Amino acid sequence: MAIGTGLTEYLESWAGGDAVRKAVAEAVFALAEAGIELAGVCGQGAINPDQGAIVGNNSGGDAQKALDVRSHEIVVAALRRRGVGMVASEEADEAEVLTPGGLVAVATDPLDGSSNIDTNVSVGTIFSILPVEGEASPFLVPGSRQLAAGFVVYGPHTDIVLTLGEGTDIFTLDRSNGAFVLVAEKVSIAPETAEYAVNASNYRHWAAGLRNYVDDCLAGKDGPLEKNYNMRWVGSLVADASRILSRGGVFLYPGDARKGYTHGRLRILYEANPVAMVIEQCGGKATDGTQRILDIDVTELHQRTGLVFGAASEVERIGLYIANPERRGEDSPLFGSRGLFMS
Ligand code: AHG
Ligand code: MN
Ligand code: MN
Repeated sequence: MAIGTGLTEYLESWAGGDAVRKAVAEAVFALAEAGIELAGVCGQGAINPDQGAIVGNNSGGDAQKALDVRSHEIVVAALRRRGVGMVASEEADEAEVLTPGGLVAVATDPLDGSSNIDTNVSVGTIFSILPVEGEASPFLVPGSRQLAAGFVVYGPHTDIVLTLGEGTDIFTLDRSNGAFVLVAEKVSIAPETAEYAVNASNYRHWAAGLRNYVDDCLAGKDGPLEKNYNMRWVGSLVADASRILSRGGVFLYPGDARKGYTHGRLRILYEANPVAMVIEQCGGKATDGTQRILDIDVTELHQRTGLVFGAASEVERIGLYIANPERRGEDSPLFGSRGLFMS
């Protein structure tokens, strides 16, 4: 597809007459429509009073903001309009049937990064599109079963990052006519990087291997990794992921020793799995520290997982640190000949 192609033409030519592909396309159209509405709502900022007000707690126990609930309502209404079969949302305890007989289900984080609502930092809507097959839950399957995935980012520009399993493409909302246009296709992430993203305030709670990795990044050129690293942490997964798509890097949110954080903070169904599919389609890797995210069995809707994703070699390097806390730098016999993951 040529740069500048509209999302409608892109999806209609991909779907053709295939019933499942048409259902996937409808789900993406729904997320685009919800995204345009949410870009406007987020863009109103404090003019819409109390968007950041805490109105309750979601199933994971996280504080639920008014805009989280509004985002959930907007996304679910759009999915229902477009005939999506079922939805599972960060903001709802249980999955919901929207269109009996619908061929696809959507898992969503309607507003990711909501702790940033009042600080004018990019936030977004993450989505995972799965097949509905028989009576079994379409959600309690490994992420490798996803048909499509991606996220909408409400930032200086409103983007849709989308993979249909044939690479990752990026669309930007043209505000002059309200249409999303293709601005980048088959995005690739370099295997090496010198930029990592982690919430370093949790250092004392991390396992030894992760502390060693970050120590060696901080040691820079004279340290075991023999290069100077830069660090970024936005605190909004879609913003950190967008940066990694744009200039490479690696993101780490491991499990840690805090109560309730043994398996980290992020949820596998509607955060880790969709991001992992997007990143793998760019030649990157996504693990829970050592295991490939897309191979992990999902047994609960709001199941948490550690998440390390981005530059393939760096994700492998981090896996070696975590698996062998006593190792430092590149001296591991494993690393020289092949990565931790059989390539
Ligand atoms: P959400 O707003 O949907 O709960 O997601 C927030 C997530 C993710 O966006 C971000 O990477 C992470 O929380 C930040 O966590 P900390 O605030 O613990 O750094
Ligand atoms: Mn989130
Ligand atoms: Mn959220």
